[in-house]
Amino acid sequence: LPFYLGIDLGGTNVKSGVVDDEGRSLSSVSIETHAARGPEAGVATLAEAGRLAVEASGLSWDDIAAVGLGTPGTMDIAGGMLLEPPNLPGWNNFPVRDRLAALLKKPTVLQNDANAAAYGEFWVGAGKGVSSLVLFTLGTGVGGGIVEQGKIIEGRHSHGAEVGHMIIQMENGRQCGCGGYGHLEAYASATALVKRAVEALERADEETALRRHLAAGTLTARSINEESLAGDPLASRLMRETAHYLAVGAVCLMHLIDPDIILFGGGMSSAGPEFIGLIREGVRRMAFPLPAAKTIIDYATLGGDAGYIGAAGCARMAFGERSTG
Ligand code: BGC
Ligand code: NA
Repeated sequence: LPFYLGIDLGGTNVKSGVVDDEGRSLSSVSIETHAARGPEAGVATLAEAGRLAVEASGLSWDDIAAVGLGTPGTMDIAGGMLLEPPNLPGWNNFPVRDRLAALLKKPTVLQNDANAAAYGEFWVGAGKGVSSLVLFTLGTGVGGGIVEQGKIIEGRHSHGAEVGHMIIQMENGRQCGCGGYGHLEAYASATALVKRAVEALERADEETALRRHLAAGTLTARSINEESLAGDPLASRLMRETAHYLAVGAVCLMHLIDPDIILFGGGMSSAGPEFIGLIREGVRRMAFPLPAAKTIIDYATLGGDAGYIGAAGCARMAFGERSTG
């Protein structure tokens, strides 16, 4: 049976792994992206991550049938192009799929990173077997993926399921990395959470452990969540607000798609039961009662592996036996 290489390009790390025909991961590798060095160095990093993953799997290159690459948008999925990805400054209009394919000498397919992660969760993760799934990924940006009847909703121009760019604040909205205002990503990404924390620290002189983190350079989404769980009032308020923003996003998706399951993945998916509980509460308060009572809202389960597993799944869909035979 064939094996597939999945590569997931993130703002901070490139994750890669070899996946078998049933979605089992044989290896999982993570190296630094160095996004600021630009796309030429970047594509070499992608290839390196791929080689390391194959090496770690114990297989040889001949065993790899195809490669799937997930990247943040904006992009042209069918054309294999990055267009204007806000979280990869300087990578505009870059034919990333064909450049990677030329280095790895394998048929290669491009997919949006969050679409790929949603497919991974549908294939072998928290959404295994459901007919309709929505995933929010929380990291440098807020990504989204929708899988309906096993099919990824890409949209006509590769910009479907861009849930991070839904407008949740109409007046005086925060500016998003994409240039727009009031977008969910500008409020609820890990990056935005830290930014909101810094602003709160500038405004207030309340006693909070976050001040120490700011001074020590350890103010991250993770440390804010940890301090919140330890009872720090400012950290708790920031986490409650973040859950509220995400609940607003989830209600929009619920009313639009009415899926079986809405998942939250990415770094914040290890935030613990309290955070997802707050999101559930917010959804129940704001949504139609019937879908709110029935829709499962939970963390994704594949963690940082969802992206490359899903990307490998996309390679399997595009080049596997099922698609040709
Ligand atoms: C991009 C999405 C991407 C997400 C996570 C957003 O800013 O618009 O395409 O999925 O970040 O990387
Ligand atoms: Na997406």
